Amino acid sequence: MKFAQFLMKNGSVFGSPKQVERFSKFCPSPLSMKQFLDFGSANACEKTSFVFLRQELPVRLANIMKEIDFLPDKLLSTPSLKLLTSWYSQSLSELVEFLEKDPDNRDVLTGFTQTLVNIRNRHNNVVPTMAQGVVEYKEAFCVDSVVNQHVQYFLDRFYMSRISIRMLINQHTLIFDGSVNPAHPKHIGGIDPSCDVVSVVRDAYETSQMLCEQYYLTSPEVEVTQVNSKSAELPVHMVYVPSHLYHMLFELFKNAMRATVETHEASLTLPPVKVRVSLGSEDLTIKMSDRGGGVPLRKIERLFSYMYSTAPSPVHGDNSRNAPLAGFGYGLPISRLYAKYFQGDLQLYSMEGYGTSAVIYLKALSSESVERLPVFNKSALRHYQTSTEADDWSMPSKDPRRMGKQE
Ligand SMILES: Nc1ncnc2c1ncn2[C@@H]1O[C@H](COP(=O)(O)OP(=O)(O)O)[C@@H](O)[C@H]1O
Ligand SMILES: [Mg+2]
Repeated sequence: MKFAQFLMKNGSVFGSPKQVERFSKFCPSPLSMKQFLDFGSANACEKTSFVFLRQELPVRLANIMKEIDFLPDKLLSTPSLKLLTSWYSQSLSELVEFLEKDPDNRDVLTGFTQTLVNIRNRHNNVVPTMAQGVVEYKEAFCVDSVVNQHVQYFLDRFYMSRISIRMLINQHTLIFDGSVNPAHPKHIGGIDPSCDVVSVVRDAYETSQMLCEQYYLTSPEVEVTQVNSKSAELPVHMVYVPSHLYHMLFELFKNAMRATVETHEASLTLPPVKVRVSLGSEDLTIKMSDRGGGVPLRKIERLFSYMYSTAPSPVHGDNSRNAPLAGFGYGLPISRLYAKYFQGDLQLYSMEGYGTSAVIYLKALSSESVERLPVFNKSALRHYQTSTEADDWSMPSKDPRRMGKQE
């Protein structure tokens, strides 16, 4: 099915389309790192956070629900997508109930926090469930490059929306549960106002190394260097969500280690994975370089593709045969979303035959770390409406040697 046919659909997969219509008319409000910290500072006010979230969470949910509605019918009718859309409807209606409630009532605030916890649990398996739906759809229907492009566009926005919603829920539930995190008393919810980047690099390395040892009985060393252009003698610190940083680095380490071990199977020593952390006035950059043989340029883009993933069936499939070091091909695309979420990026530079460098770009200044959120509007809609058009660059001839030759 072509995406152009999407627009011929009428009706919604969601049980309460009225609420979806109502809240999708609002634009999500991106928060800056500073605003996140203010919500959790000494004069943090649970009431203010409640009043903000009871509106903002429905807005973010409804914006992405509008886009779900534009997915192909055949994808929406898979059991996985039916389940997933029912979670979204249920969560939206639970949140909407709080709009009428009194913020000055303690029980309301407690009930709200409990509802957020329930919603977070309900949505725990969204990624594998969506991935399963996409696998089923891909197996059953011929997927052309236009569909691939649209699914890619949608899933980047869908998973980004999910990251942002979970961030809001985590901040509220962690900050207002009345206790201090004993392991990290200085953290504000999930944010570390003084996150030591190199120590997160080392944590991610160690966990990945353990997996690598389990699987291959060997693992490459790591070499970490840091450059702080602000004050050379101080380690690099930043305001960031350590779990997001860890997620990205862990995925990159697993990839780098797997590539290194597999390319150097026959040799006695393994080249180390090198990590350089650099703090400038605008960017905080983390570069991880391996000598794992690299990837040809032609294939780099598809490493970030959800549709090209070699996923078996992450939900119902037998995962035991999968390498623990590699999952269902979502490591890179989801890590890139984490980087982009606070206005950063993640890019791969590879030299086929030698190795790969993965670079994480983050904003050095917390004032520039502002959420990047999908908005459902006409421009988004246009993405789902374009269909295949002729390429505006020439295609190489099938066999250049025959060009111009008379048969
Ligand atoms: N550093 C690297 N060197 C060589 N190939 C890599 C590297 N990083 C990623 N790849 C390739 O990209 C693919 C996708 O990576 P990823 O998104 O992490 O998914 P997964 O590791 O689950 O397959 C890997 O399977 C591997 O083929
Ligand atoms: Mg991986």
